[in-house]
Amino acid sequence: MVIKLKCVDCGREFEPFVVRYMCDCGGTLDVVHDLNVLRKIDLKRLFDERWGTRQKPYNSGVWRYKELIFPVEEQYIVSKPEGNTNLYEAGKAGEYAGLKNFLLKHEGENPTCSFKDRGMTCGITAAHRMGAKIVACASTGNTSASMAAYAACAGMIGIVFIPEGKIAYGKLTQALAYGGKTLQIKGDFDDAMTLVQEVCDKLNIYLLNSINPYRIEGQKAIGFEILQQLNWEVPDWFILPGGNLGNNTALSKGLMELYELGIITRKPRIAVIQATGANPLYKMWKNKTPYQRVPNAETIATAIKIGNPVSWKKSLRGIEWSNGVVEEVTDQEIMDAKAWVDASGIGAEPASCATVAGAKKLVEKGIMHPEEKVVGILTGHLLKDPDATVNYHKSALQERGIASHFANAPVQIESTLEAVKKQISSLIS
Ligand code: F0G
Repeated sequence: MVIKLKCVDCGREFEPFVVRYMCDCGGTLDVVHDLNVLRKIDLKRLFDERWGTRQKPYNSGVWRYKELIFPVEEQYIVSKPEGNTNLYEAGKAGEYAGLKNFLLKHEGENPTCSFKDRGMTCGITAAHRMGAKIVACASTGNTSASMAAYAACAGMIGIVFIPEGKIAYGKLTQALAYGGKTLQIKGDFDDAMTLVQEVCDKLNIYLLNSINPYRIEGQKAIGFEILQQLNWEVPDWFILPGGNLGNNTALSKGLMELYELGIITRKPRIAVIQATGANPLYKMWKNKTPYQRVPNAETIATAIKIGNPVSWKKSLRGIEWSNGVVEEVTDQEIMDAKAWVDASGIGAEPASCATVAGAKKLVEKGIMHPEEKVVGILTGHLLKDPDATVNYHKSALQERGIASHFANAPVQIESTLEAVKKQISSLIS
């Protein structure tokens, strides 16, 4: 095998196919590729040749990059396929952020409508390779939706741990519909995460949170696919939301590897955006203080309502490598930015729109420049959280202290031509 697992803290190495997510010292694990072997392959050419193929598994926007993600025997691969998502011009959302060169990568266009599918195809494939029959995850919703779907495809039992009453409806719908055994924990995501780690340890169940190093490998493909869409030209910035901090860890790990292989020759900067009520990485970054969890994390962007992210250390490594930044945005800023992402005809769930709110803030602070080329990652589909959207447009979020500055409220009218004409004329005038 040309991969191994390595502890990010003490450097101890492990064989790739042992069920292990952490080192005995408590450090998280990386999948390490043998870059000397990879240097002998013209990877860029190989990836470009596979672009647009109908052949499985290379028709997937993850397995297209198999050599640099997970060089596993093909018969174990479980793929729907995932990826191949659009990179949009940001339109009105770009104007709102104050950026002239803003692209939005819509990861809500994955099979279960979030970026999680990219990591999940690798996580489930690893589970398959190791002969696991039962898999589990704690989730703010998207991971559970994705895992339930992939477990169903692989014929495995999927158990999801979710914080009771705190995940968006679209995501709960998916976990139930795909047949995931759904356990609602009395507590928040951080409690669910602690519990699922203990359960997996004691009950011989394979853990599919992003603490699983194979999940991170799959998520690297977001960055690879963006670069390929840009003809391998590196943008000035990548900007994305941060919750459990797996996604930005993956993005930077992939970019570091491309850089070491000489496939890219310039480092982009990475901006990670957290919600103000769930901002442990931001606090640490801003105040230059040691890591401290945020108890009782709170934000309308339930996907990133996380106070104790498992990948904070790996995440920081990537931000430092890229001369990146961490920023925070309020729920008001998230929902206003979302109104513009949605009104651009793109649409995304609240957590995703932290990306655009964060870009606007970084431009205002003079950290990001209006002419710079910026790629924002939209992590989940608009329909994941219909309640947040409808309540914003109906001005029903005051209780949470959120004003609906850009509401597009539904209007009740008589069923007459006159009434319709009046409404339309107010649109045109
Ligand atoms: N955006 C969305 C839509 C998410 O679902 C998540 C994480 C994130 C951003 C943050 O990504 O955790 O890698 O920093 N959702 C996880 C879940 C935690 O359980 O679905 P991250």
